Amino acid sequence: MDRAALKTYLSDRKSEVDRVLQSYLPGPTCDPPLLHEALRYSLFAGGKRIRPILCLASCEAVGGRTEVALPFAASIELIHTYSLVHDDLPAMDDDTYRRGKLTNHKMFGESTAILAGDALLTAAFTMLAEKGLSSTVSPKKILRVILELGSASGSTGMVGGQLNDIEAQGKDDLSLEKLKRIHSHKTGVLIRASVRVGGILGGAGPKKLSSLTSFGEKIGLAFQIADDVLDVEGEAQTLGKPVGQDESKGRCTYPALMGLSRAKKEATVLVEEALSEIEFLGPEADPIRQIASFIIDREK
Ligand code: IPE
Ligand code: IPE
Ligand code: MG
Ligand code: MG
Ligand code: MG
Repeated sequence: MDRAALKTYLSDRKSEVDRVLQSYLPGPTCDPPLLHEALRYSLFAGGKRIRPILCLASCEAVGGRTEVALPFAASIELIHTYSLVHDDLPAMDDDTYRRGKLTNHKMFGESTAILAGDALLTAAFTMLAEKGLSSTVSPKKILRVILELGSASGSTGMVGGQLNDIEAQGKDDLSLEKLKRIHSHKTGVLIRASVRVGGILGGAGPKKLSSLTSFGEKIGLAFQIADDVLDVEGEAQTLGKPVGQDESKGRCTYPALMGLSRAKKEATVLVEEALSEIEFLGPEADPIRQIASFIIDREK
């Protein structure tokens, strides 16, 4: 799979995910219209859909059928989008642009943005249950998926990481160990869970699932390091969000702690290690291999 083929793969998978999300969510005129307009605004603003795509590609990597995994993969994007809407709030990162548009609270006001985030998170779990009821996947597997996504998103996962991130802001003596923990929690765990959910739905046995778990953990951390790097040397227009925010707001990042070139090196090594975890998988794992490399090569 070359670069052009990866581009097509990503865009085809993104369309599949978007189709499921479009048909699942209440329409923008559904009562209360302001809330449904607000949550659709952020959801369809143009995210990469990398987490659901990773879920589908992981399912494929272990020989599973991606049609079966699709609705569960799509629900991950609802959790991710909620996290972005709340991450941008004035009490959190206080950001003005996201996905190339005004942030949710700048567009709809803070109270609506908070509630849109709440509604997106809740919708993820109703979607998992509703799609699970009409699925051929066993109820036990669906419960495993719900458990994976709930624990990855909650206080010992992403939300915990977000709190630690805020607490660490402005501190200049943060250890690499602590920074790694923050990044792994605020971003890494949901990426790892996306990969694991794909593996579980694809029927991975313990060995494959354990390799996918290490793979997911490493690319999850690399993803946040790349996000930090893009905040330094990315282009705002392409990224759809402003650059230079981390430094100006004293946020804890890899480039701030170790400099840009070491941060990039760290991300490269993580991706190499991730790839070696899944070396034993066949060519059906090529898409996740390519996505792993894309995570640190991306421009947005
Ligand atoms: C941005 O995530 C926030 C992080 C966890 C680093 P993405 O880079 O996946 O953002 P979208 O979904 O493509 O907008
Ligand atoms: C976001 O990290 C992590 C979550 C949303 C959980 P950042 O704060 O670095 O993400 P951006 O740079 O605003 O997208
Ligand atoms: Mg943040
Ligand atoms: Mg932010
Ligand atoms: Mg960032």
